[in-house]
Order: sequence, then C-alpha cells, then structure tokens
Amino acid sequence: MLPLVLLAVLAAAAAQNESNPPRAPSPRREQFRVIYEWNAIDFEWDSPADREAYLNTSQYIPKNVLISGINFYGENLFVTMPRMLDGVPVTLATIPVQSSETAPKMRPFPSWSDNTVGNCSALQFVQNVEIDKNGIMWILDNGRVGTLTQKPDAKCPPSIVLIDLKTGKNEMERIPFPAETVNIKSTYLNDLVVDNRDGDYAYITDNSASDPGIIVFRRSDKKSWKLRDAQSMSSANDAMLFRINGTTVSLPVNIDGIALGPQYRVDGDKVDRKVYYCPLSSFHLYAINASVLRNENLAGKGEGALRPFVTDLGTKASQTDGMKMDSNGILFYGLIGNSTIAEWNTTIDFHIGQRTIARDTNYIQWVDRFTFDDKGNTYVIVNRLFNFVKNGVSENEVNYRILKSHTGSKSYVFAEDLAVSDPSGSTVPQSAAVVPTLGASVVMVALAHLLV
Ligand SMILES: *[C@@H]1O[C@H](CO)[C@@H](O)[C@H](O)[C@H]1NC(C)=O
Ligand SMILES: *[C@@H]1O[C@H](CO)[C@@H](O)[C@H](O)[C@H]1NC(C)=O
Ligand SMILES: *[C@@H]1O[C@H](CO)[C@@H](O)[C@H](O)[C@H]1NC(C)=O
Ligand SMILES: *[C@@H]1O[C@H](CO)[C@@H](O)[C@H](O)[C@H]1NC(C)=O
Ligand SMILES: *[C@@H]1O[C@H](CO)[C@@H](O)[C@H](O)[C@H]1NC(C)=O
Ligand SMILES: *[C@@H]1O[C@H](CO)[C@@H](O)[C@H](O)[C@H]1NC(C)=O
Ligand SMILES: *[C@@H]1O[C@H](CO)[C@@H](O)[C@H](O)[C@H]1NC(C)=O
Repeated sequence: MLPLVLLAVLAAAAAQNESNPPRAPSPRREQFRVIYEWNAIDFEWDSPADREAYLNTSQYIPKNVLISGINFYGENLFVTMPRMLDGVPVTLATIPVQSSETAPKMRPFPSWSDNTVGNCSALQFVQNVEIDKNGIMWILDNGRVGTLTQKPDAKCPPSIVLIDLKTGKNEMERIPFPAETVNIKSTYLNDLVVDNRDGDYAYITDNSASDPGIIVFRRSDKKSWKLRDAQSMSSANDAMLFRINGTTVSLPVNIDGIALGPQYRVDGDKVDRKVYYCPLSSFHLYAINASVLRNENLAGKGEGALRPFVTDLGTKASQTDGMKMDSNGILFYGLIGNSTIAEWNTTIDFHIGQRTIARDTNYIQWVDRFTFDDKGNTYVIVNRLFNFVKNGVSENEVNYRILKSHTGSKSYVFAEDLAVSDPSGSTVPQSAAVVPTLGASVVMVALAHLLV
C-alpha cells in the first residue's frame, strides 16, 4: 500500500474563498501526494552476495546514499545520488514512474559497471541530469568524489556525458571540460538547463566555493566557457542559516538552481530566452538573457562584465535549492525554511506573482529538484539535506520522499520554438512583464503571510 498523504495547499484554500472570488479562473492545483518514500536507498543487485560484499567492504554504506536530482523519460524516473560521502555504489539510477512498491530499489543506469567509482570512463559524481526535447540525456559528471569527506578524490575530470535515449543502447559520449573552463579541485557542476537552439546549449551552474559561475557548453562544436558575477552568484551573508524541522544549519552555498524561460521575440526577427538562477544561500532570484550567456567574448572579460546584464527580480520568503520551468513559463521552486513548494507565472512581476502551492512541515523537508512527466504530472524530490550534511541521517525514519501532483505542466524543453513555428516573425506577441490582474490578488492573499 502506498502512503497517499495529502499535503496542505494554501492556494487552494484561498481560491475557495467564495466571498472574494477571482475575476479570472485561477488554476486549481491538485494536492501533492507522497508516491515513494525511503528510510535508506537500496539497489537492484546482481545477487545477494554482491550486496553483502559491497556492505562488507564499505562500498555500500546505506546512510551515505542521498537522492538529489530527478528526471523523466519513457517509463522511468531517473534519480541521481551524488557521491558526497563514501559508500555510494551508484550515482545514477532509474525507478519506475509507477510501481506498487513504496520504496522501489534503484536500478543502476546505464549499468552497474557504468557506475564504477574510480573508472573515469564510468559515471563518478552526478548531481543532476537533463533530458532535452530530442531524447538526449545530458549528464553532469563532476568527476571529483567524496566532496564532503576529508579527502575528496579528483582523479576524474568534470565532464558532460551524453546519452541518446531514443536508441535504447544507452551508449555514453563523454566530453571532459577543458582546464580553461573548470578547475578539477573546486568545480562543482550542480544543475543545468538545455536550450535546443543553434547547435544546442547547456547552461550549467558551477557552485564552486571559490569560483562560482555559469558554464556554457555548446554541443555542436563541444566548446565551453564560464561566466562570473560575484554579486548574484555568491552566497549572501544574510541567507546562510537554514532553519528547518527544529534544526539550524549554516551553509554558504553559491549559485545552484537554474531554469530556462520560454522563447520570445526581439526586434521582430531574433529570439531570446531568460535564464533564471539563484544561489542556494540567497533570498533573491536573478535573471539574465540567454543571448548574453551565449556570447563567449564576455567570458574573457573578467569580473564585472556580466553585471550590466543581470536583473535582480526580487526576494523570496526563503532559500531555494532546485527549480524547474514548465513550457508555459511557470516556475516551480521550493522555499526551504518554509517547508513550501511555490510557483511563479513569469509574466507577472515576481514581487506579487509568487504562489504557495503546498506547505507541510513534516513532508516537505528540503525540496531538492523537480521534474515533469508526459501526462502533466510534477514530481518533487524531498531529501532532508540539512540532516544529511549534519551527519544526522537515521535509518529508523523516512529520509527521502518523492511527491507528485497533477499540474498540467510539461517541461520547458517542449516550449514553443518560435524560430521554427513562425519564420515571418511578425505575428507572435512578445512575452513581457504584464501588469498583474485582479486574478493574481487571490494568490497574494495566500502568500501574504509568507512574504511579510
Ligand atoms: C476571504 O475573503 C474575505 C474578504 O475579502 C477575507 O476577509 C477573508 O480573510 C478571506 N478568507 C480567507 C481564508 O482567505
Ligand atoms: C561478509 O562478512 C561476513 C562477516 O565477516 C562474512 O561472514 C561473509 O562471508 C562476508 N560476505 C561476503 C560476500 O564477503
Ligand atoms: C570502465 O568503464 C567503462 C564504461 O562503463 C567500461 O567500458 C570499461 O570496461 C571500464 N574499465 C574497467 C577497467 O573496468
Ligand atoms: C522533524 O521531522 C520528524 C519527521 O518528519 C518529525 O517526526 C518531527 O516531529 C520533526 N520535528 C520538528 C521539531 O519539527
Ligand atoms: C534582455 O533582452 C531584452 C529583450 O531583448 C531587452 O529588452 C533587455 O534589455 C535585455 N536585458 C538586459 C539586462 O540586457
Ligand atoms: C520562511 O522562512 C524564512 C527563513 O528562511 C523565515 O525567516 C520566515 O519567517 C519564514 N516564513 C514563514 C511564514 O514561515
Ligand atoms: C500567466 O499570466 C498571464 C498574465 O496574467 C496569463 O495570461 C497566463 O495565462 C498565465 N499563464 C498560466 C499558464 O497560467
């Protein structure tokens, strides 16, 4: 039996206030339910003896395995397990989208051997993956393992690994980043979005403690470069404390979450997109035009070059780890200190357009990453990361959950391609900040107490 736990939904409560009905129908959000939960992560082993051998040799230390990233393709959810500590036998795995089990075992992806630690042709440290509109999986492999241990091992280089999922062969194409782009000792490839235009780009957050930035990778010629803006990409002093579930942790973590907005027209014929990002330890959300990131000349110009192009959109009630954009420009994100899942319609001013869609102090303890399937469902990984970094994981309680809600969303990778759909460039309206309507005020009622 699955524990179908219903979570509090503030926005729905506000929408039901008949004495103050919204002028435009506001989209109802189904409640989030827990579909999977684990005390500790386990795997589909080749044999029981294998499991025992891994346990005996500390190659598998159950409480050291944290799930972090999530993605969807076909019948599967892809789940990442970054090797921050020792004893993580697999860094990328799948579980079924639907299963009768509450705590399904992870199936290594592409295979057990492709997850061998210390083999630089295999996956080493995967925090996040993205799957683009052409069925290409883009895997961020940080290379360095044991990032939270006394002696991290930087034997393998930070790389992008591509797999064409359509073929079913799951062959990996590994592209190590050049030394001009990454530092094998400090680079931390955290999250990415893929922009399927003009040769296919990935915009990647590097939350390196010493040199944070956005790494841009172009698939067509495998070129990469890194852009920096200390002010918007570094942790903020006033946002380093995380208070959650009666625990306080101090984490100075730089640029982390990243999201990509829909395409919009510029000057009639050109097309651009907004890239949204935030440091984990920050209350602010920032945006920059994708066209700016794609300008590799800016990479060589040093600190300050990016500053004129960065927009500070305003503050959130709390810190955010992962976030995800849908194809209509709705951004989903967590508010860690508020045990909240929120959304923002990016055409509405950020200050007033944020909505709480779920809030629960027991079930929403550190929202890490989101994904969408092909049926309009949103999935969220909740992993109590604050507990993990404090070495406080107990296998006697639930540590990891996947929540699901039907939101009618699909991934931003399937957003309308303006360059293809309307070559004349004359009729499609530009996406621009619009004046908030009365409909949005219902949302503000729901959020008012969060934002003050
Ligand atoms: C419902 O609307 C009334 C009038 O605007 C307001 O006083 C009340 O606080 C609202 N209730 C909720 C639950 O939002
Ligand atoms: C694991 O260790 C136990 C206790 O030392 C031993 O009995 C067992 O044979 C070992 N299993 C494997 C597969 O090495
Ligand atoms: C290293 O990993 C690659 C990819 O999985 C595999 O083809 C190769 O055989 C492995 N090498 C060793 C020595 O295990
Ligand atoms: C912390 O979380 C656990 C598990 O959800 C719960 O039992 C406990 O009451 C929480 N403690 C506080 C102080 O919120
Ligand atoms: C981003 O692009 C839009 C549309 O071209 C432009 O109006 C805006 O000035 C750009 N923003 C920055 C900060 O360059
Ligand atoms: C939301 O979290 C922040 C800290 O991250 C805290 O200061 C604020 O009081 C919280 N608001 C609510 C309503 O819980
Ligand atoms: C976002 O807001 C705009 C302006 O209010 C509205 O036209 C649009 O339908 C909204 N998008 C969604 C997906 O709700």
